[in-house]
Amino acid sequence: MSESFSAEWLELREAQDARARDLGLALALRDALPLRPRLLDLGAGTGALTRWLAPLIGRAQAWLLVDADAALLEAAFSTIAERAEQQGIPATFPNRRTLLVHAPGGAWRVEGLVANLALAPHGLPLAQADAVVCSALCDLVSADWVEAMAAACASRRLPFYAALNTAGPARFTPPHPADAYLRRGFARDQARDKGLGGRALGDAAPAVLARAFTAHGYRVLTAPSPWRIRRGDRPLAQALTEGMLEAAARWERGASRRLQEWAAARQAQIAAGRLSILVPHCDLLALPPGVPG
Ligand SMILES: C[S@@+](CC[C@H](N)C(=O)[O-])C[C@H]1O[C@@H](n2cnc3c(N)ncnc32)[C@H](O)[C@@H]1O
Repeated sequence: MSESFSAEWLELREAQDARARDLGLALALRDALPLRPRLLDLGAGTGALTRWLAPLIGRAQAWLLVDADAALLEAAFSTIAERAEQQGIPATFPNRRTLLVHAPGGAWRVEGLVANLALAPHGLPLAQADAVVCSALCDLVSADWVEAMAAACASRRLPFYAALNTAGPARFTPPHPADAYLRRGFARDQARDKGLGGRALGDAAPAVLARAFTAHGYRVLTAPSPWRIRRGDRPLAQALTEGMLEAAARWERGASRRLQEWAAARQAQIAAGRLSILVPHCDLLALPPGVPG
């Protein structure tokens, strides 16, 4: 069973994700790609990474969006097309499986693949890719999954780019006495098996990815990409605190009263525009030996 995410949550986080991802690493990836790159986006959801990265690549390119959730991939196609058209860029569907965005620097060809990534890289068309990319995925995967992915990328000398890997506990301002219970329960929930090869890496993902790709001779570049949720960003703060509370409550049964107090206090602070949240993330780019970037 794959971990499910709602389209509403992915939409809510898209602007924050776009602000948080490190531009320097994305441009280094762009520079390491061939003239007309083919990108394989794992756990693509509603296509937010395409919407952010394709304009930065800025030339003709092909994307294969892979996700277990067919409804999210459907939404990816319509959202990529709609957002392009809002910017005056025509989007066409030459057939039922393909979206073409006629961007000024060269068209983006977008296709989808509904697949469970539990056994990835098995079943992925790596021979037809110039890079493997993902965003907000690697905290869900296991160390074995990373080892297998690094070996498969290395065998084809493919760059691997992973944006927005969680990299530490969220910091709430102002603090609350029950923050520690929330963080502890949430961290335990992050390690739950999320259906991607075993115990999920959570905040250990950046270090495990770096080790695995370095062992194959890759050059690994990292950069912080924190979410900075400001006091006025009520919908995202609301959704994030609710999600974290639900996750923490699964494990902190003995602290349920304290967690309820925490939730009530955070609700009041969000309503009053008094809560800000910093969520550490880390972007990572692994480049095969000899590839400049
Ligand atoms: C946090 S979301 C990120 C989505 C998107 N990359 C973004 O940044 O908006 C994680 C995505 O991974 C997908 N996913 C989770 N487990 C999966 C699995 N076992 N196989 C395929 N996709 C999976 C989910 O459906 C979801 O779209």
